Amino acid sequence: MIVLGIETTCDETAAAVVERNAEGQGRILSNVVLSQINEHAAFGGVVPEIAARAHVEALDSIIAKAMNEAQVSFAALDGIAAAAGPGLIGGVIVGLTMAKAIALVHNKPLMAVNHLEAHALTARLTDATAFPYCLFLASGGHTQILGVRGVGDYLRIGGTVDDAIGEAFDKTAKLLGLGYPGGPLVEKEAAHGDPERFKLPRPMAGRHDANFSLSGLKTALRLEAEKIAPLSDGDVADLCASFQQAVSEVVMDRLRAGLGMFREQVGVPTALVCAGGVAANQAIRKVLHRVAFEIGISLVAPPPALCTDNGAMIAWAGAERLALGLTDSLAIAPRARWPLAEVTKAAGS
Ligand code: KG4
Ligand code: ZN
Repeated sequence: MIVLGIETTCDETAAAVVERNAEGQGRILSNVVLSQINEHAAFGGVVPEIAARAHVEALDSIIAKAMNEAQVSFAALDGIAAAAGPGLIGGVIVGLTMAKAIALVHNKPLMAVNHLEAHALTARLTDATAFPYCLFLASGGHTQILGVRGVGDYLRIGGTVDDAIGEAFDKTAKLLGLGYPGGPLVEKEAAHGDPERFKLPRPMAGRHDANFSLSGLKTALRLEAEKIAPLSDGDVADLCASFQQAVSEVVMDRLRAGLGMFREQVGVPTALVCAGGVAANQAIRKVLHRVAFEIGISLVAPPPALCTDNGAMIAWAGAERLALGLTDSLAIAPRARWPLAEVTKAAGS
């Protein structure tokens, strides 16, 4: 089956066409992503109203490009999928309404996909990873450890109680005057800094649950920076290195706890899977390899272009749902908030 997927929940306008064969293997026929980074950079973060307007302006040409590159007609599609949340509601409305219009005009099934479910299922598109697996999702908006037991069957093992990890990287970069998005810039500075110079906390370390807290770390970093201001280039590099080291150690500790909970509640995972922009960070990637190695499972890390927001993951999640007969009515509403644990196998959920 061939599915068109539309993603507009944050600052990427994306559309893709993906094929899923009868054996459940996936193939990407096209994957077009337009990043709005330039529109938001001056504000140091995503501005929802600007994002929604930019989606309206770009979406039809992005879909046309995806269809053209895939060399398929609307009539040849088996279904249309759009991210129906969670996300910035203005953008979600744009993408879901577009998907409804295409589904209505061409009389095709609609799949209203949960954006987090799409991240969760990407490893099955790229690596045909079997259920059940443990997912570490870390982006600018989300930080979660999940048990992925099947399509529409997710167990939330842990998550952040305040900031997402990507958000903490972005705020650190902003504080140090590095620009936006902050993750890659902090990583670059950290490469020539001293990770031991500043003693930053490891929030939540040693706790039995698998939750994260990043806001205290961010505050501790700000206090250290204020103590030694004005900052030299060397100070900035050392602050970035110390911050990245603290986050990496927190991720290691929290994932060990999360994998222990997975084993108790689900069983032995087939793999540790990572998703989200933060997984591009090499220091964090090293930690992920280490915790997977410790318990004898492999780390599945989809290529960065499929770890960050994209249309292929939405199309794929739509295809996985369509294969199970899980389609949605045109009356389905977009959702700003939509925890993955509330996604079920029931159609129209
Ligand atoms: O998944 P993503 O592209 O978008 C969403 O947030 O949904 O993730 C973007 C986030 C940003 O916060 C960015 O700073 C962070 O991922 N990020 C990184 C790195 N590359 C991107 N964080 C740390 N190190 C990186 N190399
Ligand atoms: Zn995302």
